[in-house]
Amino acid sequence: MIKLINVLLKGHNFEYEVGELLKIFIHKKDFKFVQQKALEDNQSFLLVSEYIKDQNITKATLLQNEKVLGEKFIYHEKINNSLKLKKMIKRSIKIVIYDILREFYDIAPPWGILTGIRPTKIVHELFHEGLNIEKIKKRVKDDYRMSDEKIDLIINIAQIEKKFIHGEKEDQVSVYISIPFCPTRCLYCSFPSHPYEEEKIKDYLNALCYEIKEIGNTLKKLNKKVETLYIGGGTPTTLTAEQLDTLLKTIHHFIDLKYVKEMTVEAGRPDTITKEKLEVLKRNKINRISINPQTMNDETLIKIGRHHKVQDIIDTYEMAKEIGFDSINMDLIIGLPGEDEKMVEHTMKEIQRLDPNNLTVHTLAIKRTSRLKESIKDYDLAKEEQVQKMIHITQDYAKKMGLIPYYMYRQKYMLGNLENIGYSKENYECIYNIQIMEEKQSIIALGAGGVSKFFYPKENRLERVPNVTNVDEYIKRIDEMIERKRKEFFIQNGNNIDR
Ligand SMILES: C[S@@+](CC[C@H](N)C(=O)[O-])C[C@H]1O[C@@H](n2cnc3c(N)ncnc32)[C@H](O)[C@@H]1O
Ligand code: SF4
Repeated sequence: MIKLINVLLKGHNFEYEVGELLKIFIHKKDFKFVQQKALEDNQSFLLVSEYIKDQNITKATLLQNEKVLGEKFIYHEKINNSLKLKKMIKRSIKIVIYDILREFYDIAPPWGILTGIRPTKIVHELFHEGLNIEKIKKRVKDDYRMSDEKIDLIINIAQIEKKFIHGEKEDQVSVYISIPFCPTRCLYCSFPSHPYEEEKIKDYLNALCYEIKEIGNTLKKLNKKVETLYIGGGTPTTLTAEQLDTLLKTIHHFIDLKYVKEMTVEAGRPDTITKEKLEVLKRNKINRISINPQTMNDETLIKIGRHHKVQDIIDTYEMAKEIGFDSINMDLIIGLPGEDEKMVEHTMKEIQRLDPNNLTVHTLAIKRTSRLKESIKDYDLAKEEQVQKMIHITQDYAKKMGLIPYYMYRQKYMLGNLENIGYSKENYECIYNIQIMEEKQSIIALGAGGVSKFFYPKENRLERVPNVTNVDEYIKRIDEMIERKRKEFFIQNGNNIDR
């Protein structure tokens, strides 16, 4: 079977964008960019992607041994705005390639030419331009080639999100606090996390509480209104009950939470959750937590290195309910090694019995720095079609449970190039998740690995201010981490604050 495609770019150099699109159809080892018209032979195809500037045409041609197997082109209107023109050229280059490959391979990837992380942003932009739903549907279909199912999904989500996005309210912020520790590392995970070490956690919490105090004071000085607070990781409940209590008391003491609507702790792994810890969270006004099964199949939990059983998930969930947590999220991953439709169905039946208000369904992503990537040959992973079927099972159950998709994002290296969907019951949407996805509010991130995002509404752009990821470096350079953020606050407020 002939596989290799030589790719020749003419009149443009959007190599990255073309490469990302090709990866939706074929493995990256099956195509390579060539500088000149490579000698075609029986072993390879030639794909020519061309931008003909003086005729306003983008064109793609697929050839084998001089024989044209497919050709597509688009004429486009003249635009004076160079940024808009560049965007349009990029998109039409991708569209003609997509159309050729869709016919050639006889598959229609559901996200069309879209390789970005946040598809809903497109819909928000079109809402902003004043388009109605019908026009948005048509534009998204024409410009991105998405399937009707995905178009409906992002439009429905964007409509729910709309009421939470208020980019004009510059004084509103969210705060993220990072606890990058976990009891052990799960097979698929690439999040920065460190194993529990008593001394290191003590030093880390000292540094973190200092950052909370300093940045909390800055937020107060600037009269910022904290809308949501999210403590994530890693696994925050790796901390002891006492450590959690100190952390939360420090937060309440130094951060003005008068206007806060939502305070989440991503408890995560049931093997780190105890009654005492849950009571500490409740006493400190945490009103949303996660208890993450990933799967409700014991054999998979062993494979992925989660040191707990399905029964622990059920017991912990029921304990949290008893203590009075109403808003509980559960994370699942579809496509875990060895899982098929039956197993996903079993997971969903169990979840339906528990009936959480929030459910987040991830599609397995093969992260570069995960143990899974290192040992990928040892695992039998589901193919695209099967992953799609499993996702449909989760969608059907979510619907039956009265859960509605309210936010979504995509990642690189996901099985079947699919998506992660957050579901919620009405009025239980996680506002923080929406803000982080739609990027219309400043998110101030504290702790190692936290990346603050300062939003500039007038220019509709974000400025990222990262903290270092390494815990030792974070502790050593804590003053620098604080100063980095103060500097950005200083710029954001027109140099108008007393630092
Ligand atoms: C920041 S992680 C931490 C949550 C918590 N520590 C836990 O594991 O329960 C958030 C979620 O991302 C998802 N996730 C992590 N790595 C993933 C991967 N490689 N592919 C798909 N989903 C992933 C899991 O569902 C996980 O619960
Ligand atoms: S998935 Fe969660 S518990 Fe597992 S290593 Fe990653 S952050 Fe830690």
